[in-house]
Amino acid sequence: MKPAILVARAIFPEVLSRLHQHFEVESNQDDVIFTPAELAQRLAGKAGILATGSARIDAALLQQVPELKMVANMAVGYDNIDLPACSAHGVMASNTPDVLNETTADFGWALMMATARRITESEHWLRAGKWNKWRYDYFLGPDLHGSTLGIIGMGRIGQAIARRSTGFNMRVIYHNRSRITPELEAQANNASYVSKEELLREADHVMLVLPYSPASRHTIAAAELAIMKPTATLTNLARGGIVDDVALIAALREKRIAAAGLDVFESEPKFHPDFLTLDNVVLTPHIASASEKTRLAMANCAADNLIAGLSGQVPPNLLKL
Ligand code: GLV
Ligand code: GLV
Repeated sequence: MKPAILVARAIFPEVLSRLHQHFEVESNQDDVIFTPAELAQRLAGKAGILATGSARIDAALLQQVPELKMVANMAVGYDNIDLPACSAHGVMASNTPDVLNETTADFGWALMMATARRITESEHWLRAGKWNKWRYDYFLGPDLHGSTLGIIGMGRIGQAIARRSTGFNMRVIYHNRSRITPELEAQANNASYVSKEELLREADHVMLVLPYSPASRHTIAAAELAIMKPTATLTNLARGGIVDDVALIAALREKRIAAAGLDVFESEPKFHPDFLTLDNVVLTPHIASASEKTRLAMANCAADNLIAGLSGQVPPNLLKL
């Protein structure tokens, strides 16, 4: 008998077909967001789940589903999964690293450039019929080229963002839990390792690409915003919660930094309504990895992990405690 799995959210039909070859599949192509109680109910008797960030896999859930053996997350981030609880219950977990590095780095640049050069703000103004003349000082913003890019979180996505900066003649500084190797620094446009404080003081554009954890919560809060340049931009590609949204809203309102670009929010899809009252913020709905090719690759990667894990092999992207 094939093992039973739950595909917790809607997914590419071709990936669902692949999964049907290996498993008894309960799918959710209507894309209902399950409550924790519904998730537990759907998972009863299942050996695996293909999950996204909307499924919280914690001790309370795992206690209710003793047959579960494997959680394959379709995301590189896995802050929705309590790894120690999985380990305690003998449940394997995997993520989808690497396949999204370049696409996410592309988007980081798109968001940073839109933020600095006020692309969405000026388009809204144009669409609202306000464009009746050209003026020397309409929509001035900071330059990207020749500026200093500060990357917090120098993993594979951070390095891919840094590599792209060579064409813009930028200086790259970074902060990370630990220094990356000199070889990787050289490939990342000769990035130099600095303290978080030095990065915030010196960067013209700050980019957040670090994983969320209780330790990285509010990496950027009032004290950090206070030492950034008033002309600086802040781009968050990583997770909501890494930025203190209330402190950011105050800083943007008082123009203590120039602008922010945010792809992620603390309680997404809900976000602080005051963001909508600000012109100097670009808001996108968690789409940094959303190219057709990459999202399909992420889905297939999650499927590969589930197929391996539930057939007695080591999943290629098994997460370790
Ligand atoms: C998306 O945010 C991911 O973690 O892949
Ligand atoms: C990026 O999305 C991460 O969670 O590392």
